[in-house]
Amino acid sequence: MTNLLLNSGEAVPENKGIVKIEGALSQNKDLIITVSDNGKGIPSDDIEHIFEPFFTTKGYRGTGLGLSVTKKIVEEHGGNIQVVSEKDKGTKFIITLPQTNTEVNRKETF
Ligand SMILES: Nc1ncnc2c1ncn2[C@@H]1O[C@H](COP(=O)(O)OP(=O)(O)OP(=O)(O)O)[C@@H](O)[C@H]1O
Ligand SMILES: [Mg+2]
Repeated sequence: MTNLLLNSGEAVPENKGIVKIEGALSQNKDLIITVSDNGKGIPSDDIEHIFEPFFTTKGYRGTGLGLSVTKKIVEEHGGNIQVVSEKDKGTKFIITLPQTNTEVNRKETF
């Protein structure tokens, strides 16, 4: 959540920025959390890369690790994260999390 909110905060226009957090339950009782903004959006060429480690458009101000760590954390909880974005309109991240703790999704590698 920290990374998603910082990203949105950095993407929105000064004094006119809107960042929204919404929570809902899906029909099968998964938890759905969305973080949306009215920021600059993500160009379609970039969107397939944003979850890759070290992908950043912020030069030395970004490490490009935020979204790859966010995705990893969500997936370790058995959920998934999706993005919908339109250039100059805004961006929405949609996190879906099951309420049951599924051992199936855990891949212990040590
Ligand atoms: N809400 C958003 N609006 C516009 N672009 C975004 C948004 N969220 C992510 N991005 C794009 O995705 C890239 C990757 O985001 P990510 O959080 O992984 O890294 P970062 O913010 O650049 O650096 P850091 O590691 O410090 O978080 C960003 O550099 C930016 O280009
Ligand atoms: Mg970030």
